[in-house]
Amino acid sequence: MRLFIDTGSVAEVEEISRWGVLAGATTNPSLLAKEHGDPGEIVRRICDLVGGPVSAEVVSTEPAAMVAEGRALRELHEHVTVKVPFDEAGLEATHTLTGEGIAVNMTLVFSANQAMLAAGAGATYVSCFMGRLDDISVDSGAVVAEIVECFRATGVTSEIIAASIRHPEHVITAASLGCEIATVPGKVLKQMLEHPLTAAGAERFRADWESRPEFGEWLRGLVEHSPASSKG
Ligand code: E4P
Repeated sequence: MRLFIDTGSVAEVEEISRWGVLAGATTNPSLLAKEHGDPGEIVRRICDLVGGPVSAEVVSTEPAAMVAEGRALRELHEHVTVKVPFDEAGLEATHTLTGEGIAVNMTLVFSANQAMLAAGAGATYVSCFMGRLDDISVDSGAVVAEIVECFRATGVTSEIIAASIRHPEHVITAASLGCEIATVPGKVLKQMLEHPLTAAGAERFRADWESRPEFGEWLRGLVEHSPASSKG
């Protein structure tokens, strides 16, 4: 499963893209509204940093206006995927945009029926919002499982994005159910790093190594004399 970052923050993408784990990003109007600066510049910068698909969302509610916004957003950067909210107008806009070869991420999908309609309209990606389902006491894992099952059974090629990820367990659920992508907030990506045994293990390795100061000398010498270290 590929990992996208769900954010409007360039600083967050700058930090986390250095880990080498990000395959793309998703923004939305709420995330971008929290940021300072030109939204187009933010989207472009995130595109450069992740080097993969970055969703930027239309906000109009009429199909023709959605299509116009989608075409304009696509012009921002070659990595832009147009994010279109699910409804009748969104399906129509998705059909038109994907017909023009523009990748669409159909968002705000909460059921397998909606997912099948999104795929039918040609959506490249279908985003199922796990956290928001859990918020209304609907089992998000069951809904995602149903979408995966429907897509696999009928040969649908739209990729499933597990979205509205609130904690690392959502990521594991999405991966084990077969979602192609999870779009994960920076805070949750950082939580995924953590395990007490990792920290304790690293501390123990350091302490044992430092108990032999001559080993430290040896390693520094090895680094200094390595032809690779002159590369900087
Ligand atoms: C997905 O593309 C959305 O941007 C996002 O996952 C929504 O998450 P939220 O429910 O935490 O706002």
